[in-house]
Amino acid sequence: MKYLSTRRRHPAAKPLILVLALFLVGAVYALVMPSTRVSAAPGLSQQVEQGKALFQVSCSSCHGLNGEGTTQGPSLVGVGAASVDFQMGTGRMPMARPGQQAPRKKSQFSQDEISAISAYVATLGAGPAIPNATVVDPTNLTDEEIARGGELFRTNCSACHNITGKGGALPNGKYAPSLTKVDTVHIYEAMRIGPQQMPVFSKNVITDQDAQEIIGYLKSVNGSASNGGGLSLGSMGPVTEGLWAWVVGVGGLIVLAAWVTSKGARSK
Ligand code: HEC
Ligand code: HEC
Repeated sequence: MKYLSTRRRHPAAKPLILVLALFLVGAVYALVMPSTRVSAAPGLSQQVEQGKALFQVSCSSCHGLNGEGTTQGPSLVGVGAASVDFQMGTGRMPMARPGQQAPRKKSQFSQDEISAISAYVATLGAGPAIPNATVVDPTNLTDEEIARGGELFRTNCSACHNITGKGGALPNGKYAPSLTKVDTVHIYEAMRIGPQQMPVFSKNVITDQDAQEIIGYLKSVNGSASNGGGLSLGSMGPVTEGLWAWVVGVGGLIVLAAWVTSKGARSK
């Protein structure tokens, strides 16, 4: 077993070890991050009690008396306050009738009631918290930061939501909704919780700063009447942009991999 001997290593060993080490760091990071999420602070017990009472009236028929889930709805243990605030704030929950995708509608609950149920659900298990107002406020962003938000949006979101957030169809009759009229806090929460088909974007993928810039971009493209002039090629669909992201992203990775490998081999 020559290859396993430690005296004479395979020439690819160094770059391989490097890649493995990087993966390990990533994995450890991913394991550590969720534990830093905030659950309901102690001393909110009255709010939690109120939330629990409301929950048992409006939500338990599908989610169970203690949020454990039923055949009609999933368990809410560990989904976090952000998920409830998002689902109720966008009027998706309570669901009127079972369907494959709960539509956005006007919420019949006050923000106080939503906060109470969120606080209650947060006590069931740690999950993403509701962000504070400054995190989702895009008003102080510079033009460069908003432009960066646009890049982040095109890379991470436009494949489903279209280049300017107008939304688009997904397989099996599902759809990614338009983002033109979504509250800033719900944009943030959607990224952290990943409702339905949407992936979760954790803080190691999209930092709070990135999230704020994406929000700034969405508010700027949808706030202005014009699209900034010029050809609106980008709005034609995710294909051209996706191809671009693919070429630059994957191309960059290949270059990086080649560089790491050649470096590793030379330093032997
Ligand atoms: C008619 C049944 C029904 C009722 C009533 C209902 N839900 Fe749901 N809920 C569902 C189903 C089904 C899903 C999963 C499908 C989806 O996300 O569209 C869901 C998903 C959720 C999620 C997302 C869970 C996750 O994995 O992130 C939250 C949070 C939630 N519901 C909260 C509530 C709250 C709070 C209420 C009460 C105000 C409520 N629901 C009432 C059926 C229901
Ligand atoms: C794989 C497809 C996909 C990607 C990528 C994706 N989303 Fe979504 N998104 C969805 C779907 C599907 C829903 C609807 C979920 C539901 O109805 O429960 C959604 C819902 C949302 C909503 C809620 C809108 C509303 O009507 O309340 C927001 C906000 C959102 N996404 C933002 C983003 C942002 C920002 C990104 C990029 C960081 C992103 N999404 C990436 C598929 C996607």
